[in-house]
Amino acid sequence: MAATRAVAWRPTGLPATLAQMTPIVTTVSDAVLDKAAGLLRAGQLVAFPTETVYGLGASALDGVAVARIYEAKGRPRFNPLIVHVADRAAAEALALFGDEARRLAEQFWPGPLTLVLPRHRDAPIADLVTAGLETIALRVPSHPVAQALMQRAGVPVAAPSANRSGHVSATRAEHVAVDLGERVAMILDGGSTSRGIESTIVAVTAGHVRLLRPGAIPREAIGACLGRSLEQPASVDQAIGRPIAPGQLRQHYAPRARVRLGATSVGPSEALLAFGPDPLPTTGPMINLSPNGDLVEAAARLFSALRDLDATGADAIAVMAVPEHGLGEAIADRLQRAAVRDA
Ligand code: TXA
Ligand code: MG
Repeated sequence: MAATRAVAWRPTGLPATLAQMTPIVTTVSDAVLDKAAGLLRAGQLVAFPTETVYGLGASALDGVAVARIYEAKGRPRFNPLIVHVADRAAAEALALFGDEARRLAEQFWPGPLTLVLPRHRDAPIADLVTAGLETIALRVPSHPVAQALMQRAGVPVAAPSANRSGHVSATRAEHVAVDLGERVAMILDGGSTSRGIESTIVAVTAGHVRLLRPGAIPREAIGACLGRSLEQPASVDQAIGRPIAPGQLRQHYAPRARVRLGATSVGPSEALLAFGPDPLPTTGPMINLSPNGDLVEAAARLFSALRDLDATGADAIAVMAVPEHGLGEAIADRLQRAAVRDA
């Protein structure tokens, strides 16, 4: 049965009052998907699972709906959004694909790759989505719920990660509920996301291929597909004088607790975020991202581990070093952002 208010459902750690205000649907049937697609077309917000993190979706054609995303997240206005579509044909209707972009799309879509491409001038995308840029970020998610939703929606769906701005990204429906609660019309529950870390963002413009954000697909895999290594982004786009991936604010993904990187010991009021077969000795709370030292497993657990350790009330989270190759680059990037404090 697909009720939008699952009375019997109460996520661990979510206060009863908040759970009651939360439009989570735990059984995602065809009827629920049709309803969610209708809500999107009607300008409402729908949170949905993807293979990376949960997305907070709105119709990319509808400027007012997109404004609601910024409002719900409390997000700075200058940050453009990723547009999700069902397949490459839908993406090609919105942006210009050269040979290299097409090759990447063929190999990695559906999946956790976002391509930043020159947008077609007449693409009917609300200006707020691209924050006035001449490029657009596009992604075809592989999660079955996201896929089904995109197919049924029939409109491109702008969706940042479904968390309050600056918080750790949501990898479970209850994270979305805690952060956004009644600010969304519906939250589709697809369980824990499999990748746990956001998509890799690659800009393919004017013959340049640049990694804008390390993510669920390692840089090496993208380089191997194209037969060349990726360029580092210039931090400011010369043509428009703006940061290229403005969402890459240094402080992002911040837990309440202080985050201490490269720990080689654990203090008395610290929680431990461990990695590998030899966690540091501690009597306090500890989560091991991957006892086997597997970076894929570590990425999948990262945000949820940060949230859970934060919830223990520890003053700080001591983080063991994680190797920086492959997916480790994206893990290190997120951890560095989590460690940044405002002065
Ligand atoms: O895995 C993901 O990518 C998740 C799921 C929901 O798909 N989405 C996500 O969205 O992480 P968000 O909004 O948290 O991150 C979007 C990033 C930001 O860093 C933003 O600046 C960048 O994409 N971006 C969007 N459009 C861009 C553009 N035209 N040029 C450069 N960067 C862009
Ligand atoms: Mg985000």
